[in-house]
Amino acid sequence: MASSLPIVSPIFFIMLSLLLLISLCEGFDFVVGGNKDSWKVPLQSPDSLNHWAETQRFRIGDTLVFKYNNSTESVHLVNEEDYLACKTLGNHTIFNDGHSKFHLMESGSFHFISGSQGHCQMGLKLVVVVMSPRPAVNGTVHSPPISLALPSPGPSALSPSINQAVPRTSGNEFISVIMGLGSFIGHMIIFELM
Ligand SMILES: *[C@@H]1O[C@H](CO)[C@@H](O)[C@H](O)[C@H]1NC(C)=O
Ligand SMILES: *[C@@H]1O[C@H](CO)[C@@H](O)[C@H](O)[C@H]1NC(C)=O
Ligand SMILES: *[C@@H]1O[C@H](CO)[C@@H](O)[C@H](O)[C@H]1NC(C)=O
Ligand SMILES: *[C@@H]1O[C@H](CO)[C@@H](O)[C@H](O)[C@H]1NC(C)=O
Repeated sequence: MASSLPIVSPIFFIMLSLLLLISLCEGFDFVVGGNKDSWKVPLQSPDSLNHWAETQRFRIGDTLVFKYNNSTESVHLVNEEDYLACKTLGNHTIFNDGHSKFHLMESGSFHFISGSQGHCQMGLKLVVVVMSPRPAVNGTVHSPPISLALPSPGPSALSPSINQAVPRTSGNEFISVIMGLGSFIGHMIIFELM
C-alpha cells in the first residue's frame, strides 16, 4: 500500500530544512536609530542612539546600516578611548557613502562616532554590543582573570590569552544544524523504507 504521501514527505522535509538553513544564515539588518534619519544632529536626547541600541539584540551575522546625508555626516569606527573623547582623528575606519553597512562578524563592543567632533559631542555616537551565540565562560562571567593575580613565573600553563577567547561558534552551529537535519532526514527515509 504505497500511498503518495510518504514519497513526498522527504522532499518536503528537505525543502523545509533548506528554508531553515537560509533563515539561520541570514542575519538581521538594523538601521541605526530605527529609521533613516537617525544619524544626524540634533538628536532627540544626547543618549538616544545608545538607548535605541540597548533595546536591540545584536548577534554575529547581523548588519548595522547607517543612513545619513554624506555632505554633512560620516561614521567612524573607533576604539573606546576615542569614542569617549570624541576624537575624530586617528587610525579609524571611515564610512562616508551615506548608506554604510557594517557587518557584525564577532562578539564584543563596537564604537562608532560622527566624523564631526561637534556632532559627536552632541551625542552622535553609538556603542553596539554583539552577543556571542552561547555563554563564553561557564558560571564565572564576572570573575577577574586569574593570571593577573599570579606574578610568579611558576604555572606557565596559564597563557596570557585568557581574554582573547572571542567565540566564533556560528560555523560550528551551522555544521551541527546540518548534521542534525541530515540525520533527521535519514531517519525519515529509513522509516519509510520499512
Ligand atoms: C544634505 O545636506 C546638504 C547641506 O546641508 C543639503 O544641501 C542637501 O540638500 C542634503 N541632502 C539631502 C538628500 O537631504
Ligand atoms: C591601523 O589599524 C589597522 C587595523 O585596524 C592596523 O592593521 C594598522 O597597523 C594600523 N595602523 C597604524 C598606523 O596604527
Ligand atoms: C555621497 O552620497 C552620494 C549619494 O548617495 C554618492 O553618490 C556619493 O558618492 C557619496 N559621496 C562619497 C564621498 O561617498
Ligand atoms: C561548568 O563547567 C564545569 C566543568 O568545567 C562543570 O562541572 C559545571 O557543571 C559547569 N557548570 C554549568 C552551570 O554548566
